[in-house]
Amino acid sequence: MSPFRITRTLPEDATDAALRADVLHGLTTTPKTLPPKWFYDAHGSALFELITDLPEYYPTRAEREILDARATEIAAASGARTLVELGSGSSEKTRLLLDALTGLRAYVPVDVSESALTGAGQALAAERPRLEVHALIADFTQPLELPDTPGPRLLAFLGGTIGNLLPAERARFLASVRALLAPGDALLLGTDLVKDEQVLVRAYDDAAGVTAAFNKNVLAVVDRELGADFDPDAFDHVALWDADQEWIEMRLRSRTAQTVKVPALGLAVDFAAGEDLRTEVSAKFRREGVRAELAEAGLELAHWWTDAEGRFALSLSTV
Ligand code: AVJ
Repeated sequence: MSPFRITRTLPEDATDAALRADVLHGLTTTPKTLPPKWFYDAHGSALFELITDLPEYYPTRAEREILDARATEIAAASGARTLVELGSGSSEKTRLLLDALTGLRAYVPVDVSESALTGAGQALAAERPRLEVHALIADFTQPLELPDTPGPRLLAFLGGTIGNLLPAERARFLASVRALLAPGDALLLGTDLVKDEQVLVRAYDDAAGVTAAFNKNVLAVVDRELGADFDPDAFDHVALWDADQEWIEMRLRSRTAQTVKVPALGLAVDFAAGEDLRTEVSAKFRREGVRAELAEAGLELAHWWTDAEGRFALSLSTV
C-alpha cells in the first residue's frame, strides 16, 4: 500500500471558535447572515449528496459531463505530477482526473472535514499503490502551506463552490491560490454560469424539499453546537435570484415574531415576522467575469470548457 499521510494545519478547537465567531457576528448584524460552510455536518453533507441527484440540481451532472469529455485534455494541458484538490469532501469526480493524469505522483486533498479526508484518502491510497496521498486538514479560505511534492501541480477547485464567496473574498482567495502556484502549474476551476432565472431558482428550491431541509439544517447545527433553541419549523426556506449581483441567495424567513436564545454566546436574538436570515450566496458567472477575476489575481485563462447546454464551466488557468 502506498503512503497515506494526513496533516492538520487547523487546530482541533478552531472549528468551534470559528462557529462561535460567525454566529455571534451573523446574528447581531443587519441583515442577519450565517456562512454556508456550517451546513456541512454529517447530516448536512448527506443532504447535499441527495441534492446532487435531484432533477432540478444540474451543476453536479453538468460538471461531470465536462470532466468526462475533457479529462484527457485537462491532463495533457497540465502535465501534472501533483493534484491538489481544495474542498475535496468525498469527491468521486476526482477519480476522473486521477485516471486521466497518467504521470501523477501525488494527490493532496484539502478539506476541513477530517472524516471525509480519512475515508476517501485511505481508499485511494489502497487502490493506487504508486500514488502518494497526503491529505491536509485545512480551511482553504485561510493561507495554505502545501506539502513538498513533485511539480507541476494542478490545483482543482470544483463544484462551483467559489460561488459561495463574496466578490472581495473571491479576490483574496484567488490571490492566495496564485501564491501557491509556480510557473508550469495550473488552476482548474468549476463555475456555475448565469442562466434562466426559473432554472436557477428551481435548482435551489426543489419540489421534494431536500434543499429546504439542507438550508434548515444550519439551525440544527447551531442548536446542537451552541445550545440554541432555533425551531426549524418556525422558518421558511427561500431561494431568490439577485439579478444585479448575479447570485442565488438562500434565506430562512421567520414565520412569526420570535426570540431565539443562544446560551453559549449569552445571546437572545429577536426576529421580526418575515425577517430573513441569509444562509448562502451562490454566485453565477460569465466567461468574461471569470477571465477578469483571474487576471486580477495574476492568472491567465487558458481553456474554457462548458457542458453541451452551456450551464456550467471548467476553466484552466496558468500563472
Ligand atoms: C456546494 C456550494 C456548490 O452553491 O450550489 C446546493 C451548495 N446550496 N444547494 C451550491 C448548495 C444549495 C452548492 N455548492
